[in-house]
Amino acid sequence: MSPPPAGPVVTIGVHIADILARPIEYIPEGQDTVLVEQIRLTAAGSAAGTAVDLVRLGAEVHTYGAIGDDELGDFLVAVLTRHGVGTAGLSRRTGEQTAASILPIRPDGGRPSFHVPGANLGVAFADVDPEAVLRARAVHLGGMDVTFGLHDPEFFALLDRARAGGTVVTMDLLSNMPDLLAGAKAFLPHVDHVLPNLEQALAMTGTGDAEAAARALLAEGPAGALVTLGADGSLVATADGVLRVPAIPVPVTDTTGCGDAYCAGFIVGLLHGKDVPTAARWGAAAAAKVATGLGSDAGITDLDSTLALLGEAAAQGRG
Ligand SMILES: Nc1ncnc2c1ncn2[C@@H]1O[C@H](COP(=O)(O)OP(=O)(O)OP(=O)(O)O)[C@@H](O)[C@H]1O
Ligand SMILES: [Mg+2]
Repeated sequence: MSPPPAGPVVTIGVHIADILARPIEYIPEGQDTVLVEQIRLTAAGSAAGTAVDLVRLGAEVHTYGAIGDDELGDFLVAVLTRHGVGTAGLSRRTGEQTAASILPIRPDGGRPSFHVPGANLGVAFADVDPEAVLRARAVHLGGMDVTFGLHDPEFFALLDRARAGGTVVTMDLLSNMPDLLAGAKAFLPHVDHVLPNLEQALAMTGTGDAEAAARALLAEGPAGALVTLGADGSLVATADGVLRVPAIPVPVTDTTGCGDAYCAGFIVGLLHGKDVPTAARWGAAAAAKVATGLGSDAGITDLDSTLALLGEAAAQGRG
């Protein structure tokens, strides 16, 4: 598959250093040590994780947000740079901690987490380069429920200007906190596609099921509302109706970052000129690749192998 048409993708929002260990069956008593198979550190979060996946799928990516002036911040810059993500737009905040999560991954892939939000909570319009947004082919907003400083009429106006110029704007959420998610509804009139998970979609809309939530999100302005349902796939709502896109069955190691990868596959599908349902299938394939390894960057290597997985699933009537 050829690379997407030239022009950068900009990711804005949440950057997290993930520390993952697997398999974890229990937290030991007292000072006991349990040996595990694998421990990894990754660049994650709904802006950083999606940025890495977008690069793997062939896009040029520049990311914007805030991290601390600490070792975890150094780590995020180094690892994002190594993956090929442009990090000049990351603001280093003296005296603040870089956001981080500790994720003990259960044998079945389940992932409880311990999280410090840190510098993400202070991301503001001043951290965004308006020219980069206006030049971008796509802008992905990652975690607008926790980046309160971006709830700014100036930022909304910038997104509207970019969209008027042909930029596609997508949005994902981070938390499961109803108050924060309700606050992020202010973005809906200013984005083209919103991609929450089910819990987030229900909290944002106050509805009782995925289809009602997808329709309610669509009614706020976006052209597409894609509600992800974990191993049950996703519901894709557009003006043409609501359809179910299945998850692609794979041997699951860890589902951390599947939502981020779904966003990346979806965006790259759109950049290749695909319609929303087809781009959603690209998203499901990217997410399935990520589910096969430990960490949000694992398992996803390039677009060809991602589309090959989609092709195999379709041939078996499973994708
Ligand atoms: N066990 C799985 N097997 C295959 N695909 C999966 C699995 N879990 C998730 N996916 C794929 O990933 C997509 C997104 O998953 P999910 O709904 O868990 O996102 P999320 O909760 O936003 O995750 P995160 O924000 O941690 O990245 C699903 O729509 C599905 O296509
Ligand atoms: Mg998510």
